[in-house]
Amino acid sequence: AATKVRREESLAPKTTMRVGGAARIYVEPATAEDLRATVAAARARGVRWLMLGRGSNLVVPDEGVDGVVISLAAAAWATFEARGDGRVWAGAGLRLKNLCGLAAKAGLTGFEFLEGVPGNLGGALRMNAGAMGGWTFDVVEAVTLMDADGTVRTLPKAEMEVGYRHCAELKNAVALGALLRPAAQVEADAVNRQLDVYRRKRQESQPREPSAGCIFKNPPGTSAGRLIDESGLKGARVGEAEVSAVHANFIVNRGGATAGDVLELVRHVRARVRRATGVELEPEVIL
Ligand code: EPU
Repeated sequence: AATKVRREESLAPKTTMRVGGAARIYVEPATAEDLRATVAAARARGVRWLMLGRGSNLVVPDEGVDGVVISLAAAAWATFEARGDGRVWAGAGLRLKNLCGLAAKAGLTGFEFLEGVPGNLGGALRMNAGAMGGWTFDVVEAVTLMDADGTVRTLPKAEMEVGYRHCAELKNAVALGALLRPAAQVEADAVNRQLDVYRRKRQESQPREPSAGCIFKNPPGTSAGRLIDESGLKGARVGEAEVSAVHANFIVNRGGATAGDVLELVRHVRARVRRATGVELEPEVIL
């Protein structure tokens, strides 16, 4: 398949929050060479460029993005190769849901906690996404990345600075894929049973409406959701954006929300939690 380039591409449908305007230029590179050329062209013109990931951890502004938005949506980036030594090579464009499904089929356990994280592997690496007590980097051996200048490097995890929702090396670089280490080889049924346990847990504790996942990072030692809940904010609304009644660290789009609604509600929540508890919540999503 060829690289896709479009002008004024609407981003809302490409995000899980479903708000925001268009990208001046939107590119789906089909190859690493085209990705390199896209970034180089943006840099040469002094134009902002950014990776969309799966569009699940950001709120696109209503005025859109005045720059180049890049998505590794082409099939070539969604590879999954179970290797003879038990490890797995996965491309950055592979959705976590598909990673889990393919691992289950291959009888590889250890990735199940990622099942419900609405992202692709590249985004999950960039922010060390986590759920159910696990972090993406728990299962990473090495990451292959492209620096902003186009250099491709493979870094072992031990040489990377990773933490809670943080990966220093990917702040200004693009993850191309990673070598992953499953915990063990088991029966496919056992993997599927574990996936079901997590799926049920998530369905009970997290909302189904469009959202960007958790809006704020958990402050050390506590849960942002609990603080927001205890500040009496469940159900608080600005326009069509609402603090979820299911989990207070989710802002959900009730239908016609704008990015402006979401941002105003974020400000309101921060101010109210600050007043009620003294804690300054830090956004986890890109606002
Ligand atoms: N709680 C409340 N009210 C709420 C929400 C939560 O009192 O409205 C309480 C819960 O009862 C529980 C505690 O807060 O005692 C923690 O809640 P939960 O288990 O839902 O975990 P969390 O810390 O709120 C984290 C991650 C989620 C991940 C879940 C499940 C962050 C910011 N959030 O949430 O990740 O899915 O654990 O493992 O680290 C995300 O990062 O986007 C995200 C959704």
